[in-house]
Amino acid sequence: MKKITIAIDGFSSCGKSTMAKDLAKEIGYIYIDSGAMYRAVTLYSLQQGIFGADGIDEVRLQQEMEQIHISFQLNATTGRPDTYLNGVNVEQQIRTMEVSSHVSPIAALPFVREAMVKQQQEMGKAKGIVMDGRDIGTTVFPDAELKIFVTASPEIRAQRRYDELKAKGEQANLQEILENVKQRDYIDQHRETSPLRKADDALLLDNSQLTIAEQKEWLYQQFNRLTQSDC
Ligand code: DC
Repeated sequence: MKKITIAIDGFSSCGKSTMAKDLAKEIGYIYIDSGAMYRAVTLYSLQQGIFGADGIDEVRLQQEMEQIHISFQLNATTGRPDTYLNGVNVEQQIRTMEVSSHVSPIAALPFVREAMVKQQQEMGKAKGIVMDGRDIGTTVFPDAELKIFVTASPEIRAQRRYDELKAKGEQANLQEILENVKQRDYIDQHRETSPLRKADDALLLDNSQLTIAEQKEWLYQQFNRLTQSDC
């Protein structure tokens, strides 16, 4: 069967990654979490002191972009790809609140986006890929055959993120997470380069009231409908 490109965009913490990962596994496609790439650049910036009292040292970050190598390797235990920053597995570190609360301004920098988009397009050249993020259907793969835009209310997303952090044994404050979710929504939607928006030809999925199993089933149906009608 001919392989296609699947772009899944939407707001933060609305379960995009879970549904994208599950679909990729089920249909034997590569899964790329583009948000993990922006998180890895953020972690690098935190580790290297690029965040200072005056904000981000953009000149330095731009100079060091070529030294930031991000890759993914399948974790045999979870069956899902882990993110590597310069050869080190940073899958856990990029999910902390510290990274979450610093990532939006990094993801808004045009030179960071340019570098990430280039790598993402390279990864998707052979198709057979499910990529999730904010600008996949609009900028990275505007010709993707299947585009989904996922949303859910900020309160529900904050609760999900809270439950996730608690389950990992991390400290979490629901109000703080809700503020972070709202702030990230605002920055993601209002940045100059590739703001978060639904591509005109994307299907809208509001999963506020759906279980993970229900949204997984819905996505699988969209894939089947498209690939079977194409045959
Ligand atoms: O999906 P996430 O929460 O892991 O994404 C982390 C941040 O990266 C978020 O602030 C939005 C940004 N991002 C982006 O700007 N473009 C993408 N394609 C993916 C994520």
